[in-house]
Amino acid sequence: TVYWNAAEPGGLPTTALDEAAEVLRAGGVVAFPTETVYGLGADARQTDAVQKIFTAKGRPSDNPLIVHVADRSHIEELATPPDETVLRLMDAFWPGPLTVVLPVRPGVLSPLVTAGLSTVGLRMPDHPVALQLLQAAGCPVAAPSANRSGRPSPTLAAHVLEDLAGRIDGVVDGGPTGVGLESTVVEYMPATDVSGRHGVLHILRPGGITAAQLRQVLPHVTVREAAAHQDPIQAPRAPGMKYTHYAPRGVMTIVQGDAPEQVLARMQRELDTAHARGARTGVFTYDEHIGALRADHVVACGSLGDLDTVAHGLYAALREFDEAGVDFIVAQACPDTGIGAAIMNRLRKAAGDRVVHV
Ligand code: TXA
Ligand code: MG
Repeated sequence: TVYWNAAEPGGLPTTALDEAAEVLRAGGVVAFPTETVYGLGADARQTDAVQKIFTAKGRPSDNPLIVHVADRSHIEELATPPDETVLRLMDAFWPGPLTVVLPVRPGVLSPLVTAGLSTVGLRMPDHPVALQLLQAAGCPVAAPSANRSGRPSPTLAAHVLEDLAGRIDGVVDGGPTGVGLESTVVEYMPATDVSGRHGVLHILRPGGITAAQLRQVLPHVTVREAAAHQDPIQAPRAPGMKYTHYAPRGVMTIVQGDAPEQVLARMQRELDTAHARGARTGVFTYDEHIGALRADHVVACGSLGDLDTVAHGLYAALREFDEAGVDFIVAQACPDTGIGAAIMNRLRKAAGDRVVHV
């Protein structure tokens, strides 16, 4: 695994990016930073290259990959022309953490990318290293998060190497990622009956762009949020949502409630009970409550008043539990709105939907 350092301040090392782009063009797999998490990229048109992504990650083959582009003009060759609503989203949020699902144009992308679906997820990342790499490669780049399946997504090049050293051709280090959680995945369903003037935008995966941001740009469109327990009849799903993305070594339980004292008391009771039976305990909380909880491993990565910072540090915090060898984890819920919806989505997945309401 070649390591290219593009994290140094003072301009991007173009020779390193040219080398990495050459590896992509030659059918290799290269991890690179985006504003959300590190991605593991391959030329989306080469089936052998895309297969290497699935092999390196140990990813189920029925979970489609997001295709990354550096330029809006490139989507024409990959998907059917987006309607006005989707164009407005691209105007507002590209480059940025929004993936749009569009009907795929047949015959260009490897069938492995779409996992047999008739649609493709497209996104333009808002990161200078990613954009320059995509430009230099000159091809659409399929890239899931650059972690082993079942591990938290990587927000540092070091996380990528922890999971994938020796299994991929290279990694471009661009320093820590910004948002820290993956992009929001949306699919627009135009109105089908003549009377209905407006369609529905389905949020298939909550992420870096919030529902409120989408509603602000599309005031006349119904924006439907992914429910905690989504009914597949009512909303199309991101196939990846059915997999436990991160299952900690230890059992994780979320405690959720309106009264903080009750939430903290219940969390401490769960921790004490586990401690009494000899478990190594961990707790995920927020800056304001860090002194109120006792466990073998206490983790907070921001305050409840600043959930952007919590999102930024969430995956590194989750990695810490595994490193600390914790076998019983209690996580404190945060408000399920704004970026909090994406945080809670990832916590619920890590907890296998074990949520205690107090
Ligand atoms: O921020 C991100 O989106 C990162 C960075 C690297 O760009 N990528 C990422 O990829 O999170 P991945 O593969 O870990 O997650 C892709 C998600 C999955 O939930 C997948 O099911 C969904 O997007 N997805 C991809 N193509 C889709 C499609 N055609 N229809 C519905 N969902 C799709
Ligand atoms: Mg992922």
